[in-house]
Amino acid sequence: MIDDLKTMLDFTESNRLRERAKHLIPAGVHTYSKGDDQFPQLSPGFIVRGKGTKVWDPDGNEFLDWGMGLRSVILGHAYEPVLAAVREQLELGSNFVRPSPLEADVAELLVDLIPSAEMVKFAKNGSDVTTAAVKLARAFTGRDLVVRCQDQPFYSVNDWFIGDTPVNAGVPQAIQALTKRFRYNDANHLEQVLSEYRGQVACVILEPAATTAPHPGFLERVRELTQIHGVVLIFDEMISGFRWHPQGAQHYYGVTPDLSTFGKALANGFALSALVGRRDLMELGGLDHDRERVFLLSTTNGGETHSLAAAKATIEAMRDGEATRRIWATGQKLLEGFNALSREFGLADHVRMEGLACSPYQIFLGPAGEVDLALRTLYLQETIRHGVLVPYIAISAAHSDLDVEHTLEASRKAMPVLLEALERGSTDGLLVGPAVKPVFRKYN
Ligand SMILES: Cc1ncc(COP(=O)(O)O)c(C=O)c1O
Repeated sequence: MIDDLKTMLDFTESNRLRERAKHLIPAGVHTYSKGDDQFPQLSPGFIVRGKGTKVWDPDGNEFLDWGMGLRSVILGHAYEPVLAAVREQLELGSNFVRPSPLEADVAELLVDLIPSAEMVKFAKNGSDVTTAAVKLARAFTGRDLVVRCQDQPFYSVNDWFIGDTPVNAGVPQAIQALTKRFRYNDANHLEQVLSEYRGQVACVILEPAATTAPHPGFLERVRELTQIHGVVLIFDEMISGFRWHPQGAQHYYGVTPDLSTFGKALANGFALSALVGRRDLMELGGLDHDRERVFLLSTTNGGETHSLAAAKATIEAMRDGEATRRIWATGQKLLEGFNALSREFGLADHVRMEGLACSPYQIFLGPAGEVDLALRTLYLQETIRHGVLVPYIAISAAHSDLDVEHTLEASRKAMPVLLEALERGSTDGLLVGPAVKPVFRKYN
């Protein structure tokens, strides 16, 4: 079986590049989720080109892509209207000694769309803007503690967040101690934490929704509790922004935070993020007040023009809601089709797709019902073999019914192999190389 696989897939050039990149770049990548430990050995190590929902690796293999640039490419790879806006801007120069009018143009688009947005500040990464939100909350309240939702994996590479995960090396103990946690969909837990640290909490940060929908009243109660305790409420909409609704998950669920952060889909894969929020808070980072100044965000490339031109074209393409409606519809078809397939193979207790239709995810459970990363890796290996790259599911408006069918066909071919692994109680002899590993782990 393994020999059979080896002859079918050619990753020669990928494998050569892997060694080169790993020699030059720690982990060989610039986001841990792109790393070799997140993919099976028989997988493309690099992507050289993308168009729509297709990507090509250095060996010329073509794949249907569900990763879509870590969820940033919401309209499809190399989406022509965005490229046209960027091309036009490139001819005009990319960075100047004073701001480009594009900064106000894109800020205005966001203020018009996002309920919590009265002012906007741009940066390049999600981590920059969530960290700026935390800083602003601390300066505004004069308090130090951050309360973050413990069931969501990632808000920032910065110390206030990463210090509160297993990968906290390099973060001083004193900083680690400033972050506390609460459970998603458990407002009573948040109430306990806010009461325990009464008068010390600067902000509560969470994604309004991630893997599950908020229980009725949950987000409303979070809003109420933060108001009662004088705490700044931050919604991290890096993933939910534009995906749940063009006006954000905050509009979709009808709960308005004080500050919120956007990135990823904002510029269809170009580098731009945004902190948006209440004027009285945001203005602390401005020039027209006599309170102590907050050095909020100050970056050489924050106002660089081609990403702003990309954002303008992306928002214009998304704002009528049609792209988002397509994303929900595609997700629904994928969810129903995948789970029907899994039932057909008698695998429903082990292999399922769950979550909201705009952002579904797959789960793989071993013989005893435990999370089984080897089984997940085997599914990845088998679907890659049939031309589908599905490390996670980031649906774009470009994904079609045909793409869903292609994915279900590839999954249909993978199911008997998964069944065999489950019956044997092991992926040995079926999976080439090691299983994928959790990103947030202490040791390699
Ligand atoms: C919810 C959330 N917040 C923040 C970030 C950080 O964004 P970036 O990688 O652009 O710094 C991510 C990235 O995956 C994210 O998913």
